[in-house]
Amino acid sequence: MSPSDAPPNAKPKRVAVMISGRGSNLGALISASMASGYPCRIVGVVSDNADAAGLQLAADYDIDAKVVERKDHNSREAHEDAIQTIFDDWQPDIVCLAGYMRLLSGTFVARWMGSMINIHPSLLPSFTGLDTHQRVLAHQVTLHGCSVHFVTEGMDEGPLIAQAAVPVLPNDDADRLAARVLKAEHRLYPSALRLVAEGKVRITDSGTVLFRDFPEPDESAALYSHPVEDA
Ligand code: GRF
Repeated sequence: MSPSDAPPNAKPKRVAVMISGRGSNLGALISASMASGYPCRIVGVVSDNADAAGLQLAADYDIDAKVVERKDHNSREAHEDAIQTIFDDWQPDIVCLAGYMRLLSGTFVARWMGSMINIHPSLLPSFTGLDTHQRVLAHQVTLHGCSVHFVTEGMDEGPLIAQAAVPVLPNDDADRLAARVLKAEHRLYPSALRLVAEGKVRITDSGTVLFRDFPEPDESAALYSHPVEDA
């Protein structure tokens, strides 16, 4: 069953999180999932990096965590098969990429289409890829932010679910700006995941995003404007 088929008051969706590093967005998702009424439970964390700090966070909260390093597998397919085998065991409804630094194959992406989301530190479609904060400063852009989108094959190209904007301030450097964006990420990601888990947003076969009930914008997210489908 895809998340968008979920009936109201369904039991919490099972969420797997994929990380490569620090894991602060993982922490935000764990915190959100501990609040009463939040429609998700984090059932496991996969890291492609044995040194990822986020693994300790998973351990602190007694969440199953598995390291699947690329170097231990002969091909990208074999690496992703190993991850999929873990998912077959965990049975997640939704997969959240949270600082997962590896591009996923079309096969893996197709397997999770509509159920896999990612957070990116820019107002997409501007500034895909790495070093977004440095590039924002270099372009003297005045508004920056973060985006949560469904994952499709192209890097940072999937249809948007929600975005949050922050100002670029005089005398910002990349670190100060990154910290401001990260705070917004930690509010945005749980809020966007909730929309997916409650079936309020879904990706259509043609790759556009539809909201079921247009959520009122709140402090945590400036929600992107999408067509609303009939209830
Ligand atoms: C975040 O900025 C996220 O948007 C990007 O990678 C970074 C991961 O940070 N995809 P963390 O590991 O969640 O702290």
